[in-house]
Amino acid sequence: MKACIRGAVIVVTVLSTAVALAACGRDAGNDSGPGNGPKIGLLLPDATTARWEGQDRPLLEKKITELCGGCAVEHANAKGEVAIQQEQMDSMITKGVDAIVLVAVDARSLGAAVRKAREADVPVIAYDRLAQGPISGYVSFDGEEVGKLQGRALLRAMGSGVRGGQIVMMNGDPSDPNAVSFKKGALSVLRGRVKIGKAYDTLQWSTETANMNMSGAISALGAGRIDGVYAANDGLAAGSISALKANKVSPLPPVTGQDAELGAVRRIVGGDQYMTVYKPFAPEASAGAALAVAAARRERLDRVATGQVSTRDGKTVPAVLLTPVSVTAGNIKDTVVKDGVYTIRQICTPPLGAACSRAQLT
Ligand code: BGC
Repeated sequence: MKACIRGAVIVVTVLSTAVALAACGRDAGNDSGPGNGPKIGLLLPDATTARWEGQDRPLLEKKITELCGGCAVEHANAKGEVAIQQEQMDSMITKGVDAIVLVAVDARSLGAAVRKAREADVPVIAYDRLAQGPISGYVSFDGEEVGKLQGRALLRAMGSGVRGGQIVMMNGDPSDPNAVSFKKGALSVLRGRVKIGKAYDTLQWSTETANMNMSGAISALGAGRIDGVYAANDGLAAGSISALKANKVSPLPPVTGQDAELGAVRRIVGGDQYMTVYKPFAPEASAGAALAVAAARRERLDRVATGQVSTRDGKTVPAVLLTPVSVTAGNIKDTVVKDGVYTIRQICTPPLGAACSRAQLT
């Protein structure tokens, strides 16, 4: 499997995640008593995208404790600020954590902080976003595949009738290597098949910025001239959809997304959003926790990882790359509900009653 992130070639040899993680689990449990074992720092990028605090943090904390009863997790959120995250990296090093799980706000700007950690003998696991600098391990999804799933779903929703129809692209923050991969994957599917009327890069993945940009696109292109919206994640989809509604665009064009946020799943049931990309949170957190615990115990990470990634500076790093899933109204039950991310009761608020029956969410 090959994927490119900002010119870095990622080569992943996929073995069995389950086997590798199970093997890791067998080695675990030597550090008895909470807080008597290694300390692991968890640095999250922002509090605007629901997944980081709502899914990743509780799952990572739970899985780390399962693997290592004595481990303690120290958490901090950079609220979208590079300078804050750099300080948080320094502070984790000063506190003497044994490993850091990092979701970089800005991959390039955090490179120096990753180097500092390495010099202080603190291994850094890049979680979901490939940070620059000497990281020790990486876990994420195939980002180009995410973009392809979004692009293909958008074409399908637009139908053959609007071949050559016009779309607006709401891309993510270009300082996040994932955003670059999502866009690359999406363009590989969309280019030449639709007209891209307007395209935006959205700093800090801000919902409000996407909302403003969509209002601008509607003014520039005309309310009835947008046949589809490529939104790189559910936050950008939410901002775009509220601008379309505020401008009385009806019917709404199909809108893509990513993250399977509860709000997005509800919008899909209700027909306001066409799809989202579900990147199963539990296996990502399991792999992140297993890499972090092994790193904190100074164990070999290639026993935990299922593949490898070549980073920008040409180093090969143990990695786990997982597979994203496209979710539309028809497979909500078989994906996020089946995996226990949300119950039908959580999704199906009273106003969605009829729509939930149509989507067989009963
Ligand atoms: C993640 C997405 C998330 C986005 C914004 C990306 O790096 O892969 O799941 O929606 O950041 O936080």
